[in-house]
Amino acid sequence: MGRKLLLEHADVPGIETFDVYRKHGGYRSVEKALKTMSPEEVVEEVKTATLKGRGGAGFPAGMKWSFIAKPEGVPRYLLCNADESEPGTFKDRYLMQYIPHLLIEGMIVSSYALGANQAYIYIRGEYMFVLRIVEKAIAEAYEKGFLGKNILGSGFDLDLSIAPGGGAYICGEETALIESLEGKRGNPRMKPPFPAVQGLWQCPTVVNNVETLATVVPIINMTAAEYTKIGTEQSKGTKLISAGGNVERGGVYEIELGLSVEEFIYGDEWCRGIKNGKKMKALVPGGSSVPILPAHLITKTANGDTRLMSYESLSDGGFASGSMLGSGGFIVFDEDQCIVRNTWNFARFYAHESCGQCSPCREGTGWMEKVLHRIETGKGNMRDIDLLADINKKIEGNTICPLGDAAAWPVAAAIRHFREEFEWHVTHPEEAVKRNYGMLKG
Ligand code: NAI
Ligand code: SF4
Repeated sequence: MGRKLLLEHADVPGIETFDVYRKHGGYRSVEKALKTMSPEEVVEEVKTATLKGRGGAGFPAGMKWSFIAKPEGVPRYLLCNADESEPGTFKDRYLMQYIPHLLIEGMIVSSYALGANQAYIYIRGEYMFVLRIVEKAIAEAYEKGFLGKNILGSGFDLDLSIAPGGGAYICGEETALIESLEGKRGNPRMKPPFPAVQGLWQCPTVVNNVETLATVVPIINMTAAEYTKIGTEQSKGTKLISAGGNVERGGVYEIELGLSVEEFIYGDEWCRGIKNGKKMKALVPGGSSVPILPAHLITKTANGDTRLMSYESLSDGGFASGSMLGSGGFIVFDEDQCIVRNTWNFARFYAHESCGQCSPCREGTGWMEKVLHRIETGKGNMRDIDLLADINKKIEGNTICPLGDAAAWPVAAAIRHFREEFEWHVTHPEEAVKRNYGMLKG
């Protein structure tokens, strides 16, 4: 049984209410931080814990906090990125739905560390029912004196507001999120300047993911020294994984980093193997933005080492050629799934969600989608496969925000690992269409 730092009490009836949450040790980290630690000590503790951002990029949270500019008389802001839209990812929704106070607690401690007196939760518009749950929890926290003026008599004030997104994937990109919060169209900004220097209303701002902020709570409660005893050399603590696709038992799991991927997919405590006793064909381990892994690279790395659920083990070979733990959205494909169709499906998503600001992404994602659709529906030719690789190269690294790369990498990886499937679609157009659309035709 792995240790649970976030979901330990997730099944307790009523844990979404302040009283039950408090009875189970809730808000202890606020008492500890505000009464016994300076803001600098809290930042130091999170830095020592080497907490990597849980939204997908894995950037060290403590380091991000230490970059925050502190010009005299200028307010600082903490924004929680709850715009969880990465296909295959639903762990933040689970956390907010079942233990909303854990997020609020983490945000109070984090705001204290940053010297922010106003914080926002920017929540995905489609999560409206979750928004209501979090709203209720915020109201309770105000009522009990954990939000508002002079929290626990410490002299620290914090207001926490909630803002719904409008359904655009791009608003999960931190600078697009900031633009949206300011009431504008959610177009990503050029970086630098990073939000830590110029963010919301041009003021120093830290944007952290829901899980990242929630993880500050156990770090403060147990100390960074204890926290770093869990995990691997470079990936400490636990991670929420949302498992979906053709696994026997999908859902949201909290794992200790360093668990083997094989154990996670086949273990009784976790996904319990592939549905209907089928073989596994491929895995996307970090949400749709990360490269796909073929069966022979799922449980072993390219060097033959056991593949672990960790930032380093899942990215062997670099971003473009290996994969990434990303947001922890595990999408498992069984032997019957068509990689070409799936690649097209993802490409269609990115083409639809591109904000259109930069031409390599605006034109490239749409072009890739069209070419993939051509191949998938049996109308492609061999040159189309190379054309995809060519478009890919033109997008990669040439865009304002990571959406361009996120659209390009999965296509490149799918062709690299499953080229014969793309070729089969070209050489067997009728069979390919029958395979993917047989049911519709019949
Ligand atoms: P990024 O690598 O550009 O930035 C990571 C964070 O570090 C940002 O907050 C950035 O401001 C900060 N940072 C980096 N260098 C800095 C510096 N020198 N000074 C101050 N701050 C600095 O990646 P980004 O755009 O935050 O995230 C991309 C990832 O998000 C993708 O890899 C994807 O996996 C994930 N993603 C997750 C989604 C979800 O629903 N969870 C949705 C879409 C993407
Ligand atoms: Fe918009 Fe795509 Fe450019 Fe990002 S990469 S700014 S989504 S056009």
